Amino acid sequence: MAERIYNGKTLLITGAASGFGARAAERFAEEGANLILWDKASEALAEKSRSFAETGSKVLTATVDVTSEDQVRGAMAMAKAKFGTLDIAINNAGIGHEMAPLPSIDAATFDRVMAVNAKGVFLCMKHQLPWMKEAGQGAILNVASAAGLVGAGMLSAYAASKHAVIGLTKSAADEVARKNIRVNALCPSFAVTPLFDDMADEVADRHGMDREDAYDRITQRIPMHRVATVDEVVQAMLWICSPENSFMTGQAVSIDGGLTAV
Ligand code: NAI
Repeated sequence: MAERIYNGKTLLITGAASGFGARAAERFAEEGANLILWDKASEALAEKSRSFAETGSKVLTATVDVTSEDQVRGAMAMAKAKFGTLDIAINNAGIGHEMAPLPSIDAATFDRVMAVNAKGVFLCMKHQLPWMKEAGQGAILNVASAAGLVGAGMLSAYAASKHAVIGLTKSAADEVARKNIRVNALCPSFAVTPLFDDMADEVADRHGMDREDAYDRITQRIPMHRVATVDEVVQAMLWICSPENSFMTGQAVSIDGGLTAV
């Protein structure tokens, strides 16, 4: 059997109960990784954790709201006690918001989106990097979005939060580049996860169309005229975090069917 690329490595994923995070947990486990899974949705997380019972991976789950520094600090201490090393962290937890022009977005929505998407990534890296520095190695992947690279009308708070993720990524990458720690961001456009389904339903409601027509409308601007599968995004995670990808740091890597190319 071919050597599994993450054999014995420890991987932390936030937002691990659903969408990209849940599938990434499965794929990294198939490649030999031990898992630290965080999500604020405790029931969905427990169910996800049970699905690894038959695999050889060690799994530690924690109910963590990434906007809380106390929870992040506490869960990191638990992870350190169990695993000793942290090889890879994928800071993936994120939320969207109701589509609306900027003046119609209330301040509380802006604060909530920034708290989860931007502050959450900040807090996670703040407590991951010292641990990786101690070990003298590591790789962090922050899940941003195509909306971290270009504007997204009707989603301005989300776009602001994802631009912030890229700023945090590049700055942290600069700080730890000589410590053998790589920090990158991934910028998907749309992929079919619960987060995307909510958006498609909203577009469908607004325009009085069915979900399929809403998908068409959303994908019109994407050169490939489709959304990604979850696996297309997760394979990029596997590659970016791979020890073989050793000279890539500080990058915001698009995986978007060409959306940000034109
Ligand atoms: P999802 O909604 O399927 O999963 C997100 C997970 O994050 C959920 O399990 C949720 O409980 C968790 N979460 C939310 N707030 C949290 C908090 N405060 N603390 C801890 N966990 C929390 O969403 P999906 O689509 O898998 O999204 C993952 C990431 O990918 C997000 O950062 C999202 O912005 C980003 N993204 C998604 C795209 C898509 O089309 N699905 C496109 C571009 C980026």
